Amino acid sequence: MASANQLISLLKSHMSGDDPRFYNVAMQIAASEAKKGHRRVAAELKALIDQAKDRGARSRTVSTPVPMVQPKGELASLISAKYPTERLQDMFLSSELREKLHRVLHEQRQADRLLAHGLIPRHKLLLEGPPGSGKTMSACVLASELKLPLFTIRLDSVITRFLGDTASKLRQVFDAIAETRGVYLFDEFDAIGSKRATSNDVGEIRRVLNSFLQFLEEDNSNSLIIATTNHPELLDKALFRRFDDIIEYELPTNDMILEALKARLSAFDATEISWDRVIPEAAGLSQADIIKSCDEALKSAVLADTNKISESALVEELRGRKKQL
Ligand SMILES: Nc1ncnc2c1ncn2[C@@H]1O[C@H](COP(=O)(O)OP(=O)(O)O)[C@@H](O)[C@H]1O
Ligand SMILES: [Mg+2]
Repeated sequence: MASANQLISLLKSHMSGDDPRFYNVAMQIAASEAKKGHRRVAAELKALIDQAKDRGARSRTVSTPVPMVQPKGELASLISAKYPTERLQDMFLSSELREKLHRVLHEQRQADRLLAHGLIPRHKLLLEGPPGSGKTMSACVLASELKLPLFTIRLDSVITRFLGDTASKLRQVFDAIAETRGVYLFDEFDAIGSKRATSNDVGEIRRVLNSFLQFLEEDNSNSLIIATTNHPELLDKALFRRFDDIIEYELPTNDMILEALKARLSAFDATEISWDRVIPEAAGLSQADIIKSCDEALKSAVLADTNKISESALVEELRGRKKQL
């Protein structure tokens, strides 16, 4: 018989999923049985261990690839899939905005409790605000925090010159939304939602918009539907009512600029930088522009073989980006 100690090691390695140790202990038991002259028991143990090892190896090779949901058939030309890794804590946000994103996550995570009372967790979101303020990134963050795939709708493939086609493609997209839980992103979706259209296609755009509104209204899926726009003033008013939440993004305040600069430059030595001089240079720029300027200043430091960030290099980058506004 195996000793109590051997059994304890066996159980411990089993519980911690430590296969090599598990087999090792089992082999020790087989060896001590053989030593005691229990050859039949030893042989049986050895055969069982070999079988178990073989099974373990096979099941590992089968389960190795991470199951990725990928759109198939025509859907593949309408939707692209990815699994983002950005985290909410990596975003620079006003406390109000952070709170709103938290609320979406909270309701999604507690969906069962809400649904048990006939309440629907918020899942149709319109994100609006200036370019580079983090709208697309937020969709990635929501997908990553909820461990869901992010499906980006290729609007240029969905919207064709033929209205009938567009409607049937939209239907395919909304069928996918109902079928596969995920975050579905209609990015920069002014193309559908716009009320301003040139005179000869105004009727057409309106009909596309109407079918979108109808699909959105009928949707009772457990997916998240996120539309973003840099131009809320172009959107048809009828749209706003169909979303559960309208989340407004803004250019960063001075406090947020400081937070972003410090965080982005934190791995380097920024002790010689006067934030009071730098912040006004960044005012009016988007979060994206500020981050890119920091990265350029970091690159200069790396290539100059120093750990010190140069204030003048950073200011020059910020000014360059401001000129492009
Ligand atoms: N609020 C933010 N917090 C952190 N990074 C941001 C933020 N906004 C923008 N960025 C950075 O800028 C990049 C582009 O932003 P993006 O989300 O595409 O802006 P938008 O969709 O609003 O135009 C992001 O990938 C990220 O690196
Ligand atoms: Mg965007």
